[in-house]
Amino acid sequence: MKNEKRLITAALTYVNNIPHVGHIVGCHLPADIFARFCRSYGYDTTFVGGSDMHGTPSMVTAQELNIPVEKLTEELHKVHNEIYKKLNISYDIYSNTHTKTHEKVTQDFFIELYKNGYISQGETEMFYCEKDKMFLPDRFVEGTCPKCGFEHASGDQCEKCDSLFSPNELKNAKCKICGNEACIKTSKHIFLILSKGVDRLNSWIESKKEIWRPHVYSEAKKWVQEGLKDRCISRDIKWGFPVPLEDFKDKVFYVWFDAPIGYISITKELSEQKYQDLWLKRDAKIYNFVGKDNIQFHSVFFPTMLIENGQYNLPYNVVGLNFLNYEGQKFSKSKKIGVFCNSILDNFEDIDIDTLRAYLTTIIPENRDTDFKWEDFKNNTNSELVGKFGNLFNRTLNMIKNYFNGNIDYEIKKENLNDLDNELINSINEYPEKITQAFNNVEIREAYKLIMQYATVGNGYIEKSAPWALVKQEKFEEAKKVLFLAINLCASLCIVASPIIPQKVTKLWIEQLNLNGTPTQNDYWQNASKFNISKNHTIGEIKPIFERVDNEKLEKIKQIMANPFVINEYFKNIK
Ligand code: 2FM
Ligand code: ZN
Repeated sequence: MKNEKRLITAALTYVNNIPHVGHIVGCHLPADIFARFCRSYGYDTTFVGGSDMHGTPSMVTAQELNIPVEKLTEELHKVHNEIYKKLNISYDIYSNTHTKTHEKVTQDFFIELYKNGYISQGETEMFYCEKDKMFLPDRFVEGTCPKCGFEHASGDQCEKCDSLFSPNELKNAKCKICGNEACIKTSKHIFLILSKGVDRLNSWIESKKEIWRPHVYSEAKKWVQEGLKDRCISRDIKWGFPVPLEDFKDKVFYVWFDAPIGYISITKELSEQKYQDLWLKRDAKIYNFVGKDNIQFHSVFFPTMLIENGQYNLPYNVVGLNFLNYEGQKFSKSKKIGVFCNSILDNFEDIDIDTLRAYLTTIIPENRDTDFKWEDFKNNTNSELVGKFGNLFNRTLNMIKNYFNGNIDYEIKKENLNDLDNELINSINEYPEKITQAFNNVEIREAYKLIMQYATVGNGYIEKSAPWALVKQEKFEEAKKVLFLAINLCASLCIVASPIIPQKVTKLWIEQLNLNGTPTQNDYWQNASKFNISKNHTIGEIKPIFERVDNEKLEKIKQIMANPFVINEYFKNIK
């Protein structure tokens, strides 16, 4: 159904630091490529994102830097926004979770759960530091995971085995501020009763068996089978939104309670109409793009909140991604292992964004963890972008210029087509169709592969048809036909590649193919299987599109991009 409404969300990133390439590849970029495809295909598309301002990671960082957490998150939110803009992540809105709208939507959401009988109250044991005289949020505590024995688990979650637990289950708990033992004190809290919605959750997850990726489905099933314990959704801290109940006014919501509601409130901030169409009606398809460590929250916790609240549309697909490593190792700021996005802001000139986007597309961790490798970046640029894609445009346009003075005046007549021509015409019908399928199934790496294969089909056709030989034999009409078909394939390629390399194909379309409009227009996709270049067309100016990366250039880019963001320096400058 083409006029279907689609809401695409990318996980709201914590703003305790700036993103590294892992965050981009594991969420923002695939969500963006999918959103661009959906717009182009003609779906009524909305793409929302934002910064997750609350939560303890930001509090920990603010504490370390000795600045107010409001200041820290506000500034880093701006930096995040800038980075996504530079990378051409086409958010319709990039907001954050510390807005008035979000406060109201969150509190109303909670009140509805409360009225519906899904909130319980109870005493809970929380970590407390006698020395610092404060309750300790989960991230301010470090200890041994009760499940796998990992020694650096935080108060509620183990990074190694992904288990979630309550405070008293963690062993050897220490306060991260002062390093002393963290004791346990009781405090009154509110809980979300997850068990009441479990049957509905289970049948909802079952209905997703064929839609979700297998690893997302099986992870969700696993959590449900293990049994859902009620979850504490308040915290004894100051950073966050107050719980709107008389006895709990001095407590704030747990970050994972308010963050996913951010998708709703950010949509509302964008437009009241969209909020109603996408969230209050049930026919829109919501796609949540999330990193590996967020799958449980999006496949179990947030859906239960939505089911129990009862007012809102549920996600259609939880697109769970995996992790990205860097040259076989984990990203690490302190060890300078990784690719950090601050360099994209500082040294923008040296880094071609679409070249980077194309390489990153090849390593989207769709079904397993993947690896960023500079050598692969170089190979993708030289052999795919320059060697296949660029080469097709370059040779086609240059031959049109050299043999026909830049003008191609040809009209297809069936009787003049040979087998090679017919094969090529079939490809212009079939490849866009296959690419559409891949994008629609959110198999973006597959789509990229098909796009490159499509370019190879074009190159093969030119190779076999050899227009240079035809010109030599003075078979000008024959040569014209080959170039006419080839340039039409080029135009088609611009459309299907537009979700991945939007800037390059726009430039190609306007400046070199000399066509009107842009290949990135909404609802333009169906033109990919048509002939966009008609009789008597004059091409524009020919320029190389992608630049080769030699070892010297690679070293330069590597140096620039391995420079981590030094947060203390940054805040020294803006204080
Ligand atoms: O892992 C994170 O960065 C979380 N801030 C993701 C939240 S996603 C959503 F719920 F907002
Ligand atoms: Zn302490």
